[in-house]
Amino acid sequence: MRATCAANFGQIRHYIMKLSDCHNVYDFRELAQKRLPHPVFHYIDGAADDELTKRRNSSSYDDCDLVPNVLAGVADIDMSVDVMGQKLDMPLFLSPTALQRLFHWQGERAVARAAEKFGTYFGISSLATVSIEEIGAAINSPKMFQLYIHKDKALNSAMIERCKAANFDALTLTVDTIVGGNRERCLRSGFTSPPKITPRSFLSYAAKPAWGLNYMLREKFELSNLKDHIEEGSNIALSVGEYFNTMLDQNMDWDMAAQIRSDWGRTFCLKGIMSVQDAKRAVEIGADAIMISNHGGRQLDGSRSPFDQISEIADAVGGQIDIICDGGITRGSHVLKAIACGATACSGGRLYPYALAAAGQAGVERIMGKLREEIERDMKLMGIQSLSQLDRSMLRWR
Ligand code: LAC
Repeated sequence: MRATCAANFGQIRHYIMKLSDCHNVYDFRELAQKRLPHPVFHYIDGAADDELTKRRNSSSYDDCDLVPNVLAGVADIDMSVDVMGQKLDMPLFLSPTALQRLFHWQGERAVARAAEKFGTYFGISSLATVSIEEIGAAINSPKMFQLYIHKDKALNSAMIERCKAANFDALTLTVDTIVGGNRERCLRSGFTSPPKITPRSFLSYAAKPAWGLNYMLREKFELSNLKDHIEEGSNIALSVGEYFNTMLDQNMDWDMAAQIRSDWGRTFCLKGIMSVQDAKRAVEIGADAIMISNHGGRQLDGSRSPFDQISEIADAVGGQIDIICDGGITRGSHVLKAIACGATACSGGRLYPYALAAAGQAGVERIMGKLREEIERDMKLMGIQSLSQLDRSMLRWR
């Protein structure tokens, strides 16, 4: 009886849930699920194979405890960090992610404006649904472009030149998508870009009419930075896995990365570095930053979590290159733990798409505000005024 009442209460709560009920990333995930057709929700939420790495990305923080100091006079704290040549007002930024106008009609525009409001980095993907030029003109805060190296060399050069002209601050080369991960939720749902409504998926789209009306009546869906070179993703429907397998250049290697760095000539970051060996090579080719990342567990399942890799990478290359912990962050305390291990800053690529899907720009602003509050509260409870006071002496592993 009690179990039935609890289940019913859970259903009622889900049914009436709104933005003001969202206090953390998991609440936003729930609201996103309520708003999105299930193939789109599971594209965001899903990962590769058994999704072990996705779970581990977050649970790895639970294996580490913070040891606070008290009586530290924390009325004024400073959570700014210097990363990739920019001073950020907070140590957490919004990693580039693809296809954002499928999550909410405001797409990347909303995320860019929210990032500007919080004075933090924001990135668009090569598979973004708004153009490099539009984002370049829209915000004055730091912006990065996530480059996927395509077989089409003219496309690669065009994207780099467009980013220069639009004054992007950093180019982030993705190095962990040499083939597509095995995303079984997408295989089951038939998710593609652009979405293809099949007899099987029809009901899941029809069940979310508000999403469907926005998708059909607002501007046509496109991959704005690719569409003049390739039809795939904008006019020809492909799964993300098929896209990676067929469109990206599997010959990509360190020489190519060094060449891209030199063609770009400005702040350069490698996203998807996991080993000390590769972190050292990133320093050798003159990269300014690495994002320790396993692509949200969407690529190699069984890969170690970014948080678990920070210490050994920081011991090897700390001080020579900025180290960004990208993965699994759902709490302010996770950011403090990562920085204590040696990260320069943190980033997330799932925490804000849930919020975008749930409520557009207002959703992204709310989750960023919540996380900012958590970081501030946790800094005070840890007895520090600045993030540079964090180190491994304040951590214990279970
Ligand atoms: C992903 C890419 C596109 O789906 O970032 O993981």
